[in-house]
Amino acid sequence: MRIMKSIIHSVILGLLVSLLHQHYFPNCWSVHVTYPECVPSETRNLPLLVVVPFTEKDWSYIEKNLELYSTYYPCSSNFSGTVDILFWFHRNWKAWDRNSSALKRILESDTLKSCFRSVLTESANLKPNEDLYYYSYLKLSHVSSGTCNMFYPLFKKNFIRNGYDYIFLMEPDVSPIRPLWLEAVYNETQGKVFFQKGSIAQYAKRIITQHDYHINGNALYRVNDPCFDIILETAQREYRDAPFDGALYALRMKKSFHAWMRYYGHLFVYTDFILNFGDNPFSERQVLEKWPHTFLVHGKGRHD
Ligand SMILES: *[C@@H]1O[C@H](CO)[C@@H](O)[C@H](O)[C@H]1NC(C)=O
Ligand SMILES: *[C@@H]1O[C@H](CO)[C@@H](O)[C@H](O)[C@H]1NC(C)=O
Ligand SMILES: *[C@@H]1O[C@H](CO)[C@@H](O)[C@H](O)[C@H]1NC(C)=O
Repeated sequence: MRIMKSIIHSVILGLLVSLLHQHYFPNCWSVHVTYPECVPSETRNLPLLVVVPFTEKDWSYIEKNLELYSTYYPCSSNFSGTVDILFWFHRNWKAWDRNSSALKRILESDTLKSCFRSVLTESANLKPNEDLYYYSYLKLSHVSSGTCNMFYPLFKKNFIRNGYDYIFLMEPDVSPIRPLWLEAVYNETQGKVFFQKGSIAQYAKRIITQHDYHINGNALYRVNDPCFDIILETAQREYRDAPFDGALYALRMKKSFHAWMRYYGHLFVYTDFILNFGDNPFSERQVLEKWPHTFLVHGKGRHD
């Protein structure tokens, strides 16, 4: 009996001491500091590439945007940045655009011609089973192999790796709310190196799940950086068909990858040159009033 009591007492004492110890000397067992294995590379002063990934259904958004660009002009006449734009179709462009009317609309746009050095088009040639996008009630998550297969391979393309420092992913439901938006995007790429720069969710009154802290996919990304390549590959391997933007966020928050957050957390940047409203309606006028640094919005619910 007495032995039991003293054991309990020493256990309690031990716990107290260790609590105090941790509180006052939190780092005393701490192992040596660790250092990243990979050091992000400097930019090479290469142009910016705007990538517009799209499906057949998105074409009407692209047409609307091209019209909008004549009011919200992408650049001024003295814009000195070099930017290309790639229209990146999910299937086979020729099979879809038989009479080339979509191709002509893009290549003959004066607005595009005057602000972009080159207007490029390419087909991802996804097969139907690689091109899925739906909500799975079985997994309680989005299955998004279509967008993943349009996103991750961009970072492996040689012409992108060799020709650009950053890409700006701009889905067709991203649109400008004021002129000179391309200059604003370009300006964001000048200065300190980063891996991803984009918007936190603005689509709900408050943030409900942790996922809402992710940086939306419509963002600037670093290309041809060995450290970011590892992060992208790991996100794809760990989260497979989950939306890539959520995957990149989940990876940073995952405890088993804590070192990455320490080394690279500062390279994932929240910004307001673009804002993500998702499917929620928003007022163009109010955005202009409340966010003086915002040029682009992501969302289908735009109204005046
Ligand atoms: C650049 O052009 C815009 C109009 O396109 C003009 O308002 C602005 O003053 C110009 N800036 C410079 C530095 O020339
Ligand atoms: C090309 O095809 C589209 C629909 O596929 C049609 O709306 C358009 O009028 C056609 N254009 C020409 C020049 O035939
Ligand atoms: C981009 O940066 C240039 C040079 O600093 C500045 O003159 C211009 O106003 C900026 N444009 C936008 C749209 O922020």
